[in-house]
Formats: sequence, C-alpha cells, structure tokens
Amino acid sequence: MGTSDAIYQPDLALVHHRGFGFHAAACAPGILELLAPVRDRQGLVLELGCGTGLLTTELTAAGHRVIATDASAAMLAVAREVVGDLVQELRQLTLPDDRLPQADAIVAVGHPLSYLPDAQAVDQALIAMAAALRPRGVLAVDICDLEWGRARQGVPYFAGAAKDWAIITRFSMPAADRFVRDITTFLPNPDGSWRRDSEHHENVLVDTSLIPALLRQHGVDAQVRPSFGTETNPPGLRVVVGRKPAR
Ligand SMILES: C[S@@+](CC[C@H](N)C(=O)[O-])C[C@H]1O[C@@H](n2cnc3c(N)ncnc32)[C@H](O)[C@@H]1O
Repeated sequence: MGTSDAIYQPDLALVHHRGFGFHAAACAPGILELLAPVRDRQGLVLELGCGTGLLTTELTAAGHRVIATDASAAMLAVAREVVGDLVQELRQLTLPDDRLPQADAIVAVGHPLSYLPDAQAVDQALIAMAAALRPRGVLAVDICDLEWGRARQGVPYFAGAAKDWAIITRFSMPAADRFVRDITTFLPNPDGSWRRDSEHHENVLVDTSLIPALLRQHGVDAQVRPSFGTETNPPGLRVVVGRKPAR
C-alpha cells in the first residue's frame, strides 16, 4: 500500500461522489465508443483509480466485464456500495508499484496518474499498463499536462456547495510541474451540525507530448488528444488513447 492510501479519506470520498460525478459522466460516451470492440469480444476492462465507481457504473451498464481498482480504501468502500457485484472484482491497487492484471482494455479518468510523485513514476505506471495490455487491447486514460498549471496561474481557490456537501480548495504551485490542493470538506451530521475535514493533495504535471514515444517503445501505438470523444475537458487535462497491435 503506497502513500496514495492517505488521500481520499471517507469524507472527501463522499464529497467526490456527491458533487464531482460530472467528469466521469462526460468521459463515458467517448470511452464506451473506444471500448466497443472489447465489449463485443467480452474482453476484460481494468479500471485504475476508479474512485467511487462513477465510470465503473457506466462500463458495467454497457455490458463490460470490469476489474475496478483504486489506491484509496475509502473510495473503494463507496464503490462497493455503488457497483457491488456488478464488477468481476474490486481491488485496492496502488500505482505505480502494484502488479496490474492482464486486460483487454485499461481505463483511468480523473487523472489518477497525476497523483504519482514524479514524472519517472508516471512513466513507470504507463510502462506497466503497456505490459498488462493484451494484443488488440485499448488504453484510454487522462492525465494532467504542464499546461494544467499554466492555465490556473493566479487562480487561488475553488469553492462549491450543495445541500449535503461543501468544499473549499486552495491551490498553489511550488514548481512548474507541481499542482497542490489544500482541501477542506464539510458534511452534514445526522443532528444537523456540519463536520469538517482536510486533505493535502499534490499532483505532478508532465509533458504529455512525450508519452506516445514511450508507449511505442513498449508496444502500444498511442496519441495524446484533448478528449476521449466529444466532451470538453478542463484546460490542461489530456487524454491518452492507445492500441496494442494484434500479434
Ligand atoms: C479525482 S479522483 C477520480 C476518481 C474516479 N475515476 C472518477 O472519475 O470519479 C482520482 C482517483 O485516483 C486515485 N489514486 C490516487 N493515487 C493513486 C495511485 N497511486 N494509484 C491508484 N489510484 C490512485 C484516488 O484514490 C482517486 O480515487
């Protein structure tokens, strides 16, 4: 178990699930289209950083066989409620060191790769994904480019709230390749009072234009694109779509 288990503790996991499902929902149609050939041959989809199962639900509803994984025990606890036995397996898996099961597609949205400590760890995870992908396999992941930080310079915070959650996030950029979020969450207690919790998240920003050459060296033909399909992603979030040729 790596340091990522320390992030997305129970309160932030709930706030993510209640308030931040829009990204997985926006990505789902494009991902389902990319994965249609995998579904048609009843291939196995490995989801990394599945969080609370927001994309997982869309994959299983479309008929995919899915192993859904995440580093955070708290995210997986919500996912267990949400996707239950609709998946082949829910597994705690921390990139980049944990072994990846072989799969016919590997997907990750909400930039789990960007939670790794540095660009070298991101490369290590991408190489592990290339090795785990079976021939004719499809790779579809999103990741924060260096542009993510440039686009948010001078944006000091984000705040959001609904009837059953609230969040205040302060941003900082100690280096051009590091995006830091100090997150405070608020959730209602049964007695009507609100409880507060805090988390510190660090994301590494990488030059995504280097990713296709790395994946090519490991047998995957990949492109970096602005989106999986027709969705509009936040500035600086890039999508890597790859295919491993048939043997
Ligand atoms: C922004 S959330 C996205 C969750 C989900 N995919 C979604 O779109 O709702 C990022 C996820 O990456 C997971 N994560 C962070 N570091 C990770 C690591 N080293 N290995 C695997 N998952 C990780 C977090 O626990 C979290 O669930």
